[in-house]
Amino acid sequence: MPTDPRNLTRHAGAVTRQDRERRLGQRSAVVWFTGLSGSGKSTVAHALEERLAREGRLTYVLDGDNVRHGLCKDLGFSAADRSENIRRVGEVAALMVDAGVLVLTSFISPYRQDRAAVRAIVGRDFVEVFVDAPLAVCEARDPKGLYQKARAGKIAEFTGVSAPYEPPEHPDLHLRTGEQSLADCVGAVHDLLAARGLLHA
Ligand code: ADX
Repeated sequence: MPTDPRNLTRHAGAVTRQDRERRLGQRSAVVWFTGLSGSGKSTVAHALEERLAREGRLTYVLDGDNVRHGLCKDLGFSAADRSENIRRVGEVAALMVDAGVLVLTSFISPYRQDRAAVRAIVGRDFVEVFVDAPLAVCEARDPKGLYQKARAGKIAEFTGVSAPYEPPEHPDLHLRTGEQSLADCVGAVHDLLAARGLLHA
């Protein structure tokens, strides 16, 4: 049974997020990549992380395929389980932001409502990036062979095939990975972070 929140008291330490950001010489934020499997979320997130790390920033990529091996290994791909997956990741990302980290997340996160909930958990400094590639392109890439399995009926509730993907209506940034190069995509996210003042010390 969940704990009654009335029996919990938040403890605010003397060291704040601002103190940690100052010590690290950076601003913390969440860059939330959403898109179909095979759209390029993880590729862009990791390439961006390399660039930010080269610039001396403390970063961390939270990735669906990794998180589902541990923190979320009890969850499947029903709408309810995906919501819980995204909720947990949102909470972890919010803690990491409090720790001063520039967090990059790579999850299909197919439901608008779940993404809105994460934005509410994280608060300011949440940047939503729609990694957009047509289903046909993702399916042709099929880097993990999962579309083929889904079409053969070997994976249920597969996003784009037998489960929905709700594209963001107003993403902070819209990447088209079928047309733009990886370098362009990374550059566009980097430019946006700079324009938002998130790359200032
Ligand atoms: S999410 O919908 O809950 O955000 P998440 O990003 O964590 O999904 O995991 C997606 C990854 O799990 C895919 O890239 C793919 O490798 C794998 N996967 C396995 N089964 C499915 C499925 N039914 N639908 C989508 N992805 C799946």
